[in-house]
Amino acid sequence: MEEARPSKTALRVALRRAAHQLYDAKPLVLDDPVAVAILGDSYAEELRRTPTRPDRPFSVSLRAFLVARSRYAEDTLARAVSHDVTQYVLLGAGLDTFAHRNPHPQLRVFEVDHPATQEWKRELLMASALPAPANLTYAPVDFERQSLREQLHAAGFDPTVPTFFAWLGVVPYLTLEAFRSTIASIASQPEGSGVVLDYGQPRSALPFLEKLAHDSLAARVKLAGEPFQLFFTPPKIAAELTAFRNLEDIGSSEINARYFANRTDNLKILGSAGRLLSAWL
Ligand SMILES: C[S@@+](CC[C@H](N)C(=O)[O-])C[C@H]1O[C@@H](n2cnc3c(N)ncnc32)[C@H](O)[C@@H]1O
Repeated sequence: MEEARPSKTALRVALRRAAHQLYDAKPLVLDDPVAVAILGDSYAEELRRTPTRPDRPFSVSLRAFLVARSRYAEDTLARAVSHDVTQYVLLGAGLDTFAHRNPHPQLRVFEVDHPATQEWKRELLMASALPAPANLTYAPVDFERQSLREQLHAAGFDPTVPTFFAWLGVVPYLTLEAFRSTIASIASQPEGSGVVLDYGQPRSALPFLEKLAHDSLAARVKLAGEPFQLFFTPPKIAAELTAFRNLEDIGSSEINARYFANRTDNLKILGSAGRLLSAWL
């Protein structure tokens, strides 16, 4: 990411979550009453222009993946909370609105993000009259330059209690070094802690048509100043996560069966590029 600029990809993801609320059939996969509100007047026009045409299957599929990954994180978090997790850390939170919809009264939420993105989010929330909930703490961190552990500590995070981490839409933008140092921080948490993340498979692992979809998305994020840098195959990411147990790594067919079965619209994930993973200590 460029140093002093809020993440453009965070805005694009938020626009698609908001479009899901407005344009997709009910029941929604991610029912998020704050998704539109957080964009406020500033991005109302962009929201109107966000692609939702059903004849653009890869665009529909991208929106499906984005809402499914947030839903997966929140479903997995609910399981963690029922097993005594009391802290939730959103790594690279972007415009995620979970903290404003948190149904778990005892759960402390920490939003970690690049300082420029976090500042922009807080301005948007203020403009939309969405005050920060009492159990939310912001922790600005640049994963490439700062230690997650130190910055969380400075924000009042308790490293002695089981914690659940969500790391959504961030891994592909990092260097391997930043990925490994963040995984090491998570792995140093107490037993019972867990993480959910999404990752992309390398271009070489994809069939021809998906290579084209990959190239188009890669070109767009590069143009936004946030080029993809890091991909894994399932065995390669499993090899990075040896400190964890009970890995669940699901691709489009499992995600579609779980979240998109019996829909009346054509919202579903195509192809095999994006995967969702959860793992526990
Ligand atoms: C595609 S957005 C995803 C945002 C959010 N997780 C979501 O699902 O809406 C990528 C996020 O990663 C953050 N990010 C990227 N590189 C980062 C870095 N080096 N340090 C901290 N955050 C970073 C951006 O600020 C942005 O919020």
